[in-house]
Amino acid sequence: MNVVVIPFFLAAHFTADETWAHGPEYTFQVQVNCTAIPEEGFYGSVRLNLESKLICQPLKSGHSLSCHFEDSKANSFVADSLDPSDPAAPAGQVNRQPAYEINEDQFEIKFNKRGLDDLVVNENIQPRELDMIRMIVGQLSLGATLDGVGNDVTFDTMENFTQGECYTTFKVNKKPMGRSLYTKPGYALRPVFGLKDGKLVQIRKIRNLRMCAHKVPYFFGSAESFREESDIISDVSLSDGHIIITSSEFISGTSNVITTSKVTEAVVTTLYENVRLRLESIQPAESEPPTVKEAEPASIFIGRWLINDSEEDD
Ligand SMILES: *[C@@H]1O[C@H](CO)[C@@H](O)[C@H](O)[C@H]1NC(C)=O
Ligand SMILES: *[C@@H]1O[C@H](CO)[C@@H](O)[C@H](O)[C@H]1NC(C)=O
Ligand SMILES: *[C@@H]1O[C@H](CO)[C@@H](O)[C@H](O)[C@H]1NC(C)=O
Repeated sequence: MNVVVIPFFLAAHFTADETWAHGPEYTFQVQVNCTAIPEEGFYGSVRLNLESKLICQPLKSGHSLSCHFEDSKANSFVADSLDPSDPAAPAGQVNRQPAYEINEDQFEIKFNKRGLDDLVVNENIQPRELDMIRMIVGQLSLGATLDGVGNDVTFDTMENFTQGECYTTFKVNKKPMGRSLYTKPGYALRPVFGLKDGKLVQIRKIRNLRMCAHKVPYFFGSAESFREESDIISDVSLSDGHIIITSSEFISGTSNVITTSKVTEAVVTTLYENVRLRLESIQPAESEPPTVKEAEPASIFIGRWLINDSEEDD
């Protein structure tokens, strides 16, 4: 049995010849870690960590996944460490942040050969929530066609991703894994460009943020409306993507660095964000995925509302 995990990109080949009445269900572990470091007046950093699960089923109609989030848990705390790569311990109280815990409504992700194409969401979704979903599910987007690439390839292309359309350097390396797997999951992951057992492929995406057709300076959970006047000035200075695939693992992440300041206050804060999706399991689904209630198409781009809306000037 073969199942499509990410349309046009990743399949799983099962060794046993089973069939699942309702098809497969994929569980991805989600982690979003944000570190805010004010430039002055404060020695330490503010951390926000979100953990969640993204549960998806492929739709029979073709190149779409139907998904929802589950078990979201967000916390914030102050840490002494100024190193954003350090999983710092809280210096004081840990506060739950329900506003960052994503709701469990069903939505759909449509793919094309390059990656994410479109979303289908409930028309009553909050714009802020839609942007958080975009940023997380954006990790399922390859951003380029990689059919038949060799072992070591570097190329540049325009890439559509949730924060814009920018000139991106793709580096693809296939190499021996150099470690053995602890458990065999009963399936082998096969990306569109082929990968032998015992090999690992690493795809790095380095975005040239000075060469964008358009770009939105978004940071996770931001409620700024980019179409309105705002007193917050933000700029993205780094956005790198990273995908690792072996025969049993799929991990995709993005690191962003954003500077923000208020027009009224001179203090500049630097935000370091790490978003990561990891395939946790493939299991038989218990039923068909629920349909999206009051479904409306939505663009994958941050800050753009439903597709119809983006053409109007409201
Ligand atoms: C997020 O933070 C947790 C706890 O500090 C850490 O274990 C995890 O590796 C971090 N994940 C990312 C994607 O930075
Ligand atoms: C990015 O998306 C826009 C809008 O859908 C489209 O016009 C453009 O061709 C896309 N660019 C790439 C590189 O896929
Ligand atoms: C846009 O809205 C109109 C009615 O308001 C509807 O008939 C049309 O199908 C919508 N188009 C898209 C692309 O959603």
